[in-house]
Amino acid sequence: MSGRRPLVAGNWKMNGTRENLAEIEALKAGLGDSSCDVAICPPATLITEAVARTGGSQLMIGGQDCHAEANGAHTGDLAAEMIADAGGALVIVGHSERRADHGESDALVRAKAEAGWRAGLLVILCIGETEAEYRAGETLAVIDRQLAGSVPNGATPGNLVIAYEPVWAIGTGLTPSNDDIQASHAHIRQRLVARFGQGGVAIRVLYGGSVKPANAGEILPLPDVDGALVGGASLKAADFLAIVAAA
Ligand code: PGA
Repeated sequence: MSGRRPLVAGNWKMNGTRENLAEIEALKAGLGDSSCDVAICPPATLITEAVARTGGSQLMIGGQDCHAEANGAHTGDLAAEMIADAGGALVIVGHSERRADHGESDALVRAKAEAGWRAGLLVILCIGETEAEYRAGETLAVIDRQLAGSVPNGATPGNLVIAYEPVWAIGTGLTPSNDDIQASHAHIRQRLVARFGQGGVAIRVLYGGSVKPANAGEILPLPDVDGALVGGASLKAADFLAIVAAA
């Protein structure tokens, strides 16, 4: 991890109602003085209450997506400013489920990242290849295209985190080999340094895609892996705490 403070972030996706706030409380209680940054991105309906229940702790709460604009006639959408207003500290943009389900382009993801910054949020920006691209050996080319197209100018270690998430590893129980994960992360690091200089050295690059307590101990110590973005295993505090412990 080369001096970068690890971040373990949980993405609850479209899961969770008020009763699940108990998991966030259990997480807060179990964290103690963890030496890494920890975040949960619950559904938007739970952000305010999750923030209220985690006040004073190191557990950050965030959103899973935002609109590029600050307000306006965009039914069903959420502005980054609204996430910040609810007490959120971060926002995920460009998740592959948004890219696939809502046809989000690199240009749109870039605009959303800028919106997150405009609202003062830490942005976790997701990239990663599909299974077909992986099989065609296009992983690094996809990473290059998405980094170039999605990451705005002005990225710093304080405002941006990259999450490398192979689409075929999300929710499937499959993961790339540790060598492949490290190779992709080293490549991302190289690109960040080429573009952002010293800042690129310190921008954190998380791995995501079927991170579980059982594999976190192998994946998280890889040299260019600075933490994890966790879906399914973030829904239960005990599983998520085990992953945090590995970081
Ligand atoms: P998963 O999801 O951990 O359930 O594979 C990861 C993600 O989509 O961020």
